[in-house]
Amino acid sequence: MTRRVYIETYGCQMNVADTELMLGVLGRDGYEATDDPAAADLMLVNTCAVRDNAEQRVVGRMGELKRYKRPGVVLGVVGCMAQRLGQRLLDDAPHVDLVIGPDGYRALPELVGSARDGRRAADTAFKSWEHYEDVPPARTDRVGAFVTVQRGCDYRCTFCIVPMTRGRERSRKLEDVVTEVGTLAAQGVTEVTLLGQTVNSYHDGHHDFADLLRAVGAVAGIRRLRFTSPYPTDFTDRVVAALAAVPAVCEHVHLPVQSGSSDLLKRMGRRYSRDDYLDVVGRLRAAIPGLGLTTDIIVGFPGETDADFDATESLVREVGFDDAYTFKYSPREGTGALRLPDAVPDAVAGARIERLIATVRDVARRRNVRLVGSTHEVLVEKVARRGGLLQSRTRNNKVVLVAGPSDWIGSYRRVRLTGTTGSTFTGMPEPSGRELAVVG
Ligand code: SAH
Ligand code: F3S
Repeated sequence: MTRRVYIETYGCQMNVADTELMLGVLGRDGYEATDDPAAADLMLVNTCAVRDNAEQRVVGRMGELKRYKRPGVVLGVVGCMAQRLGQRLLDDAPHVDLVIGPDGYRALPELVGSARDGRRAADTAFKSWEHYEDVPPARTDRVGAFVTVQRGCDYRCTFCIVPMTRGRERSRKLEDVVTEVGTLAAQGVTEVTLLGQTVNSYHDGHHDFADLLRAVGAVAGIRRLRFTSPYPTDFTDRVVAALAAVPAVCEHVHLPVQSGSSDLLKRMGRRYSRDDYLDVVGRLRAAIPGLGLTTDIIVGFPGETDADFDATESLVREVGFDDAYTFKYSPREGTGALRLPDAVPDAVAGARIERLIATVRDVARRRNVRLVGSTHEVLVEKVARRGGLLQSRTRNNKVVLVAGPSDWIGSYRRVRLTGTTGSTFTGMPEPSGRELAVVG
């Protein structure tokens, strides 16, 4: 009898990739994926621990999934929140049978089996060798693929829980990554996104990130190469040269800055000042014409003064980001920032984040309005959520809605940008909507 697994995924792209890994592990054990929790024999929630509200959402969701628990159905919490809380989750939530951290997915079949027999278990041991090298991820997207090249993080940003939930940094062997990307290309995937917490510090003992970009960019059929997230000080001259030289590397970098104040960056344990960051941006822009630049920003970090916040706002304007994810600082158990004085009152942080969001939107809208009328190559990704249009993306990461048949999904088109909402675009395919031939 086929068993069915339902997985809900929260958090970053690495969790999306980890979910595909779990589906691969369970697929070998005879499980089929389902998107209906009521039909599942196994329900897993792949969690994020980066901010408290992400965890609260999961707690609420677990309560809802509880009602699909018939006898013999197993409910598990996996991912970063599972790693962070471990046994505490089993103690506090009697409806949870299984708790597994990011290094424990190989043992899923056995752990699920014991849980079904009534033995609840938590597995949060770190395995610094674990890359799931022999597990073929079960991917559903035929257009693009996430490929994890580095797991864990050795940096110690004082706000961040990730080093505690994902363990030590380690990189996969370049050859293994290239083999996987070759397999994807043979299946028709043309866009690959390389994933790591500080992805440009990738090093497998012999090859650095520049080597990796060149090797993956040389795989036949890979037409777009993206990566996330890089760390500002790991853009060596070698890496920047590779970004510029490899035709597949897209003109977009997501470069988390966190704050525009050098004082605050120091308290955050970031390894650069405001000027260092601006310097990296200058080098990237000089090397890559038309570069799209996005970022992550935290407001309300302990000790953030009005002047610190003004520095963040002025940095957003000075850099001219195409977009930014903004977060209110969330204290995380066990992180260095908990010991810092001068907590920012929630009302102050709330007012600042609202102002920052407005600034980010204003900066992005001005940049986007100037792009209307220009022509871009887009990759058609999927049917858009609204209006019966297709969602496509430029190389520099702008989302463009176009009218066209659904068999355009996966193809490359040239479109003229005809309008913008301020953040996304509408586009007109040209000329006569022919697919662009593969080049190179
Ligand atoms: N190195 C990872 C960072 C993962 S966390 C990457 O670049 O993908 C993703 C983002 O969440 C961070 O860049 C930061 O802006 C935000 N973040 C992390 N910890 C946070 C916290 N305690 N409170 C608020 N935001 C946080
Ligand atoms: Fe977190 Fe800083 Fe690493 S944000 S993931 S500790 S680079």
